[in-house]
Amino acid sequence: MNFTGAHILSIKQFERADIQRIFDVADAMEPYALRRKVTRVLEGAILGNMFFEPSTRTRVSFGSAFNLLGGNVRETTGFESSSLTKGESLFDTARVLSGYSDVICMRHPQAGSVAEFAEGSRVPVLNGGDGANEHPTQALLDLYTIRKELRSNGRSIDGLRIAMIGDLKHGRTVHSLCKLLCLFQNISLCLVSPKELAMPDYIVEELRSAGHKVTITDDLASSIGNIDIAYSTRIQEERFASKEEADLYRGRFRLNQSIYTQYCEPNTVIMHPLPRDSRADANELDNDLNANPNLAIFRQADNGVLVRMALFALVLDVADQVDNYSREVNWYNSLRTK
Ligand code: CP
Repeated sequence: MNFTGAHILSIKQFERADIQRIFDVADAMEPYALRRKVTRVLEGAILGNMFFEPSTRTRVSFGSAFNLLGGNVRETTGFESSSLTKGESLFDTARVLSGYSDVICMRHPQAGSVAEFAEGSRVPVLNGGDGANEHPTQALLDLYTIRKELRSNGRSIDGLRIAMIGDLKHGRTVHSLCKLLCLFQNISLCLVSPKELAMPDYIVEELRSAGHKVTITDDLASSIGNIDIAYSTRIQEERFASKEEADLYRGRFRLNQSIYTQYCEPNTVIMHPLPRDSRADANELDNDLNANPNLAIFRQADNGVLVRMALFALVLDVADQVDNYSREVNWYNSLRTK
């Protein structure tokens, strides 16, 4: 695809070569993300960071990624601080805000809303999550993480064995990740969820059409024995009609060190898009896994900065200029020693 000026709305817009391009640019961003070097390549550019649902990682890592490229960030968080509450349409809002920004990231609770917004925008729009539909930049950072973690085990994405666990009906990260895996070969997926929260049929169909082996189950123990990646997800309480309904499923699939030791191969990598729900009645990834070197969740979150820097550099067409505007940093930074 031609990245310059493109909206990033869905994983469906990518071909495999595009993913390789994003990952190559993300690799090149590491000295900047680790603050070994700084670049001013986007000096003067403005990111409109618009989040109409709660977010920690996506909002802050988009903002940090833009700052690390030398740009400025303007944030809008919550409907109450926007004229959308006065009945303004997404189209009009986009038309106006795209006059104030060079690129816009948006999260919104309704499926399809970010694409609708993009139709009114005069600048590239990046989807930071639209309802239960998609979270394409999360899928890209997830796959980037999978690639890195597998490489250290001498494996590649083709041939991957992965279990996705939890709320697969409402989890937009797993929806996007499945679509992304359709670009690769010979994947074995075990989809572990309560029957009521199963992966949507159309996504299972897409996986099978891509030639992948898909197993659907509600039994965790029998699903995590022969896998490279255990990808856990939270029950998406905000997508249920009531907290009580979400409570029916919370805590159904818990991974802790004891279960990991009993059932998983020793190198199985544990991932989660985060936030994990650490309340006692949920706890899908126990804190006792924090000392497990195969717990990749924080490396995964760190990789979000690299991938989002790559996307900004590509859509604003500066990927090949980043180093031309760089210098070494002059402050002490503990990230450089780790
Ligand atoms: N993974 C993710 O989207 O996290 P946030 O909701 O904190 O952005």
